[in-house]
Amino acid sequence: MILVVGAKGMLGRDLMRVLPGDVRGVDIEEIDITSPESVRRVILTLKPRVVVNCAAYTDVDGCETNADLAMAVNGEGVGHLAAVTREIGALLVQMSTDYVFDGVKESPFLEDDPPNPLSVYGRSKLMGEEQARETPDHLIVRTQWLYGLGGKNFVETMLRLSTERSEIAVVDDQIGSPTWTVDLALAISELIENNCRGTYHAANRGICSWFDFARAIFAEAGVEMTVRPQTTAQLGRPAPRPLYSALCCDKLTRDTGLELEGWREALATYLEKRREAGLS
Ligand SMILES: NC(=O)c1ccc[n+]([C@@H]2O[C@H](COP(=O)([O-])OP(=O)(O)OC[C@H]3O[C@@H](n4cnc5c(N)ncnc54)[C@H](OP(=O)(O)O)[C@@H]3O)[C@@H](O)[C@H]2O)c1
Repeated sequence: MILVVGAKGMLGRDLMRVLPGDVRGVDIEEIDITSPESVRRVILTLKPRVVVNCAAYTDVDGCETNADLAMAVNGEGVGHLAAVTREIGALLVQMSTDYVFDGVKESPFLEDDPPNPLSVYGRSKLMGEEQARETPDHLIVRTQWLYGLGGKNFVETMLRLSTERSEIAVVDDQIGSPTWTVDLALAISELIENNCRGTYHAANRGICSWFDFARAIFAEAGVEMTVRPQTTAQLGRPAPRPLYSALCCDKLTRDTGLELEGWREALATYLEKRREAGLS
């Protein structure tokens, strides 16, 4: 059985739909990953062969002012999962992020590039990676710029704002790959099926800025909106972000045969699924 922890989150929900076979999902009501007792109780009872951890404190700016909580959930929480999965011989799949890198590179980051997080969130997720490596049977999947049905994400924010105004400023100096959670869930499924271990990057193909992404969202959705470019410094968010954080996904393709679709095609499919689900 595969156990998805954080199953009610944005990625967790799509993993519950995409993973094959016997899949169970739990969220904070059943397992609080900051509590070693709750982690032990649930995992020792269910005895899964794979645990996929999607539970995290994902508010990047919130982490700056709640560093203790960030470290407890994103760092130590993973340690509690690693200790129990090690004990029962289960694989631990830990989700991680491009924010473990500093963004000071001119080509996509490789799995073994040295991490150098700029933010509390990035440091807490790096601690989570280190904790996951405490069990030999681990798979760390770094991803970025996620959006999916039912989640709080950039696509949904842009579509909501388009009902409230006709002009918006979006940062044009952060570069990455917008990634649809369904495509990411497929990549995770393939990594598990192919018995991959260690660290992998998984993101939709191609890179763009948030400004490019916003323009694509409005174009694909057929919405009139004036998008003005803005710098990260002008936006002035509490947490520093890497300026260039494209992830090289060649290792995923080499070891599974899977190449994720381009970000623009994925966006078009997502918007189609939204319409089918009755969302405007
Ligand atoms: N979103 C992105 O752009 C992005 C980019 C790169 C990597 N990632 C990583 O991908 C993974 C999934 O992200 P996501 O966006 O799907 O996250 P999400 O929607 O925020 O879901 C996280 C889930 O974890 C739960 N949770 C929070 N604290 C918990 C705890 N102590 N114990 C158990 N569950 C807890 C949350 O419950 P509540 O909602 O009740 O708090 C929520 O259901 C995370 O590891 C994240 O760091 C995300």
